[in-house]
Amino acid sequence: MRVKPADRTESVQEYYFSQKLRQIDQMRRSGIDIISLGIGSPDMPPSENTIAKLALEASVTSSHGYQSYNGIPALRKAFADWYHKYFRVELDPENEILPLMGSKEGIMHISLAFVNPGDEVLVPDPGYPTYSSVTNLVGGKIRYYDLEEKNEWLPELEKLEGSGSINAKVMWINYPHMPTGAKAPAKFFEKLVAFALRHNILLVNDNPYSFILNKEYLSILEVDGARDIAIELNSLSKSHNMAGWRIGMVAGNPDYIRTILKVKSNMDSGMFRAMQVAAVAALENPQSWYDDVNTVYRKRREIVEEIMGILKCSFDKKQTGLFVWGRIPESIHDCESFVDGILNGARVFITPGFIFGKNGSRYIRISLCASETILLNAKTRISDYLSTK
Ligand SMILES: Cc1ncc(COP(=O)(O)O)c(C=O)c1O
Repeated sequence: MRVKPADRTESVQEYYFSQKLRQIDQMRRSGIDIISLGIGSPDMPPSENTIAKLALEASVTSSHGYQSYNGIPALRKAFADWYHKYFRVELDPENEILPLMGSKEGIMHISLAFVNPGDEVLVPDPGYPTYSSVTNLVGGKIRYYDLEEKNEWLPELEKLEGSGSINAKVMWINYPHMPTGAKAPAKFFEKLVAFALRHNILLVNDNPYSFILNKEYLSILEVDGARDIAIELNSLSKSHNMAGWRIGMVAGNPDYIRTILKVKSNMDSGMFRAMQVAAVAALENPQSWYDDVNTVYRKRREIVEEIMGILKCSFDKKQTGLFVWGRIPESIHDCESFVDGILNGARVFITPGFIFGKNGSRYIRISLCASETILLNAKTRISDYLSTK
């Protein structure tokens, strides 16, 4: 390459899935039929009403111009009503909600808005890899905090406080948690807010999984005092089967939201109006729509639990979210070769837990984003493969 890339590109690697999906694509092109149970991209459609609104609004001549940087008022209001209805949180649509192009971009905006080069950032291990890669890109200093099965995947805050001074600027939390499917009890959210207030750390709860196989919807913003120190990301990707649409939001006190908007308004020019109007329709889906989607996921989870059983992986039946997270048997030395063996031998791709951090190294994650037929096929392939070993 004639031009030397910026140093920050050295701090990140190509996203694991981006590499792996390319490998799977090559395998498919060479005639090998692979079942991918890796990524959490919902395969079911949004509600009919959502799609109808998109089509209708797309045909309106005036829909196609730039939109305001903080979303159309109707979308901010729909997010506020959704938070009131499901999370018991009152948000002012004028200044406490900022629509985003998915929560992933929000992670970058929040980091650019609050993390100076050298600032410490608390990142869960295991956790969504974007928290670390974005921290690296903005020059922050990652301080991982451990999540372990023996603690129900909740951080040991006292241990963290006892392990040296805490100078962090931002702490990423994500409950219901991906990849483990663990939930944080409301009392634990209170402890987290108290911890953040004690150390002046911006606590960011990334909350895209509340609506999947879960009935207790909790927001960090519900905790007394949270508005001073916490903000929350949410997204329509998983909750409304709209991952490709790129619609999310960040909510919290107007000072934080204004600061994030300062960054974001310099980076994009709003979302297509028809999508925003359709997102309003999605947020107005009746409870029965979520129930129907969850009925499908529940049946799929039973099959994935059987696959975990065939692989002799242990798992918690109370997990929420789009995946099943299982601990590999002690007899397996290396999780990556275990997963690669399944990919090459059974033609089924599942995610090795190490990509979420060292505490994930004895685990695998299987996605529920495939039909029952595909999952049953994967189950047969895996048991056939194991029987020939
Ligand atoms: C924990 C977590 N946060 C954020 C995202 C990204 O969501 P979005 O599609 O809203 O950018 C994901 C997607 O996999 C996720 O698992």
